[in-house]
Amino acid sequence: MKEILVLYYSKNGSTKKLANYIARGINSIEGASARIRTVPEVSTSPKTFAATCEASDLYVTHDDLIECIGLALGSPVRFGNMASSLKYFLDNTTHEWLSGTLTGKAACVFTSSGSLHGGQEACLWTMLVPLLHHGMIIVGLPYTDSALMNTKTGGTPYGVSHHSGINDDMIISTDEKNLAILQGKLLAITSLKLAK
Ligand SMILES: Cc1cc2nc3c(=O)[nH]c(=O)nc-3n(C[C@H](O)[C@H](O)[C@H](O)COP(=O)(O)O)c2cc1C
Repeated sequence: MKEILVLYYSKNGSTKKLANYIARGINSIEGASARIRTVPEVSTSPKTFAATCEASDLYVTHDDLIECIGLALGSPVRFGNMASSLKYFLDNTTHEWLSGTLTGKAACVFTSSGSLHGGQEACLWTMLVPLLHHGMIIVGLPYTDSALMNTKTGGTPYGVSHHSGINDDMIISTDEKNLAILQGKLLAITSLKLAK
């Protein structure tokens, strides 16, 4: 069984819900298994690095990057950008960058935003850029899936997204759910092909 890393940051749980659906898609592909990880929350106060990780989640280690054959990377939208906690982790992957740990592996990105037009695609791009620097092969979402054309909620060709509402209380729509599962499947299929 080959493992694929689903790495996300989520403050209020919306991005985490997408991560779980992506993991479901990965696990539905024979020979692939999802390894779900998160990152610690960073703080502007050096004394209050919060421990937000729930018992069911684990913080990512650099071994996760080495051992997994693919990567799904997710963050809530923060002013059109990825969250600083996830960026902080990526900014500490110099060793992986120089040694090519992620080079040639498949990757996809996902996000959640409070408002529908609040920067989902911009945020997805901020995550894609460092993955390209790492030499990863990007897996998007195809318009051959009708959900991408018809969705009235989240879902972009750059990666799946969720419109959570300002209070993060909107449920994952059927289209968002189906696209997240599809994204997990496509990532697993591509990762397995590239890992051969
Ligand atoms: C500091 C900050 C900046 C945010 N910036 C945006 C934004 O630019 N556009 C948007 O639609 N939502 C923005 N949001 C809302 C979050 O993206 C949204 O609530 C998201 O679904 C939360 O995901 P989570 O539950 O995984 O933490 C922002 C929230 C915070 C706290």
